[in-house]
Amino acid sequence: MGHSVVLYFSNTGHTEAVAKNIAAVTGAQLVAITPQQAYTAADLDWNDHTSRSYHEMHAGRVRPTIQPIEAGIVARATTIYLGFPLWWATAPRPIDTLLDSLDFTDKVVWPFCTSGSSPIDEATSQLRRDYPAVAWHTGQRFTSQMTGDDVRDWSQLI
Ligand SMILES: Cc1cc2nc3c(=O)[nH]c(=O)nc-3n(C[C@H](O)[C@H](O)[C@H](O)COP(=O)(O)O)c2cc1C
Repeated sequence: MGHSVVLYFSNTGHTEAVAKNIAAVTGAQLVAITPQQAYTAADLDWNDHTSRSYHEMHAGRVRPTIQPIEAGIVARATTIYLGFPLWWATAPRPIDTLLDSLDFTDKVVWPFCTSGSSPIDEATSQLRRDYPAVAWHTGQRFTSQMTGDDVRDWSQLI
């Protein structure tokens, strides 16, 4: 079995908890995607149309700087679990920064998310459209009630 990695972006801990669960079940390496400038509560206010998150998600092509992730982590991986919270039903821009900064060509990537209620479908179709060189696998939204069996069902490990 090849090397697998969980890459995740999380601000308020929901996606991080899911990422840790997936890493525990699959044995994958756990790696956080960390923005160079952390998002404050004000940055994450989706009702405020002048907030950082609103701007990043609505102002064309924005790529917030993230702390570099060693290229070998992705290069060595045969399976990548990519986790993020949904923002306006799609993947936050730091995910685009990551996908633009390392070579994910032909990498098998399993997207997963947490959200208030939105399903992952819009996010996955946007990722497939914007990053066609990636071998995208079926995405999965997890809740805080998730179990290891949910991970196994999704990733068909057993
Ligand atoms: C800027 C912003 C936009 C959001 N947009 C949505 C949305 O469109 N649909 C939804 O169900 N939840 C939305 N949420 C809620 C988050 O997806 C949810 O709280 C998520 O679990 C947060 O993950 P985290 O704790 O890992 O950061 C939004 C949250 C933020 C901060």
